[in-house]
Amino acid sequence: MDSTVSRRTFFKVSGATAAGVAIAAPGNAEAAPATDAGRSTLPYPRKAIGKVAGLKVNQPVAFQYPDASSPCAMLKTGRKVAGGVGPDGDIVAFSTLCTHMGCPVAYDAQAKSFKCPCHFSQFDPEMAGQMICGQATENLPQVTLAVAADGSISATGVQGLIYGRQANVL
Ligand code: FES
Repeated sequence: MDSTVSRRTFFKVSGATAAGVAIAAPGNAEAAPATDAGRSTLPYPRKAIGKVAGLKVNQPVAFQYPDASSPCAMLKTGRKVAGGVGPDGDIVAFSTLCTHMGCPVAYDAQAKSFKCPCHFSQFDPEMAGQMICGQATENLPQVTLAVAADGSISATGVQGLIYGRQANVL
């Protein structure tokens, strides 16, 4: 018997084998065990930050959330606003790091806006932190709040990315 393999037979066999591997590959990928490796964010902590009764209209209260290096301010606006909580729907909170370059913004009670001293951006707390004018191109991240039956207020999350972070929860 002739043990040599013709050129034509060699390509036939190797081609069929390659096709078989190519077809089998997707099946193997689907059989891989599911993991949590695709998760890119961590859960937000729940943090008590004050009481409804302790707030006065137009007087912000400072706190840090979701960690000690993230300054925020809670504000009772005096009228029902977007994202507002509490009996009057008027309590909101925001990161106080300007979304332009991270300078700390300050609340101007006269103008009812958060103002940045660095390049003069302004943000509206009655419009979910919307940027009014200036160098910033993003709104102030709004802290989501929850109010318990006893009037205690907790921070539960942040809508928008806090300046300088790749993720709000580190
Ligand atoms: Fe606030 Fe530039 S850092 S406007």
